[in-house]
Amino acid sequence: MAAKKAKPIVGIIMGSSSDLEVMTAASTVLEELGVAHEIVVTSAHRSPKQTGEYAAGAKRRGLKVLIVGAGRAAHLAGAVAAQTNLPVLGVPLESGALAGVDALLSTVQMPSGVPVGTLAIGSAGAKNAALLAAQILALSDGALAGRLDRRKAKMAQDVPGVVKQVLPGGK
Ligand code: RP5
Repeated sequence: MAAKKAKPIVGIIMGSSSDLEVMTAASTVLEELGVAHEIVVTSAHRSPKQTGEYAAGAKRRGLKVLIVGAGRAAHLAGAVAAQTNLPVLGVPLESGALAGVDALLSTVQMPSGVPVGTLAIGSAGAKNAALLAAQILALSDGALAGRLDRRKAKMAQDVPGVVKQVLPGGK
């Protein structure tokens, strides 16, 4: 009998195909951690109906966390969060004249009542959004929690510590 295919539990959403390269960092981390996910391009302003329908239907389809990347006047994460009570993690993307500061402020400054957990600008934010999504999922998934623990332990091992001692006078 063929193995049952896992259904996506994380949605990685972005406003444009031009965001794909940076947001792939989130997908890579989730893949390493064995978290089934899907990648969707939908825009808050170019395809608002599709965006609303995707966000409103996400929980019913089995998604548990949404990661949303967008650049410029980045209202996509807020537009998604407005339609769902799933945790929404926003990743501001560097694009255009303001190099991501515009997207950072648009994403982080959500008015009270509709939270978007906002990560750093660009690929660091995309990676951390994936790790944070995995940490949320790991609250009810012991195997995933173990994989996260091993990843953190390896990260500590890879930090070199003291790399050189200089003792003037040779004493
Ligand atoms: C935002 O505008 C997108 O998220 C993207 O970061 C930025 C530029 O989009 P394109 O004009 O490259 O499609 O909506």
